[in-house]
Amino acid sequence: MRHAVVCLLLLVAACGKKEDAGAAGSTTSGSARSNDDTQREQARFDAERRPEKVIEALGIKAGSRVADVGAGTGLLTVHLARAVAPNGTVVATDIDGAVLELLYQRLAAAGLAEVVERRVVGSETPGLEAGAYDAILLAEVDHYFSDPVGWLKAATAALKPNGRIVISNRIHHRAKSMAAGQKAGLVLQSESAPVTTHFIAVFVAPDAAPKK
Ligand SMILES: C[S@@+](CC[C@H](N)C(=O)[O-])C[C@H]1O[C@@H](n2cnc3c(N)ncnc32)[C@H](O)[C@@H]1O
Repeated sequence: MRHAVVCLLLLVAACGKKEDAGAAGSTTSGSARSNDDTQREQARFDAERRPEKVIEALGIKAGSRVADVGAGTGLLTVHLARAVAPNGTVVATDIDGAVLELLYQRLAAAGLAEVVERRVVGSETPGLEAGAYDAILLAEVDHYFSDPVGWLKAATAALKPNGRIVISNRIHHRAKSMAAGQKAGLVLQSESAPVTTHFIAVFVAPDAAPKK
């Protein structure tokens, strides 16, 4: 009987150790999994949105200053940062400070935190300083503006002389985006749809447009 009790105690102790090891293991694989999840999310996003085409449309290069308006969690920002590093800057704006925190984590994990300035802005104003930007990107955001024409006019003042405003959004927003760009006095320079779901429109200020 005494022997049986000792065996039972040893068995319980062994099981306890196994559970501890399991818990520690799940913490490790949990963080590994979340890292994997981040990479999978980025890979899926990149396949769906073709960010290299957005970079091409922006015409940015090392040293450029670019604004990523409504940057969200930074799935596109990371590509912009890579394009303008090491001496350039991405000003990532959003009305939501919490998403910019997630954006910072993504950029820091990619070693690009230094390249990005986060900026919480009001919903009606670009919040961008005048004459300072080579390019301003509006990706999946202009449909949120209550006055898109006024917003675009204000943003035009933030461009450098040959700067451009690039609007990319889902195809069903295209007509409104194009009309707003035109009403704001912008000149459409090119348009493409590298994926079936989204358009990319490149606008310049009238004084930067080639004369006909
Ligand atoms: C659909 S997400 C787009 C994220 C990213 N640009 C992309 O293309 O994947 C829209 C983001 O725009 C932000 N947003 C909405 N209205 C805005 C405004 N008026 N100014 C700046 N950001 C805005 C939202 O908080 C959200 O993070």
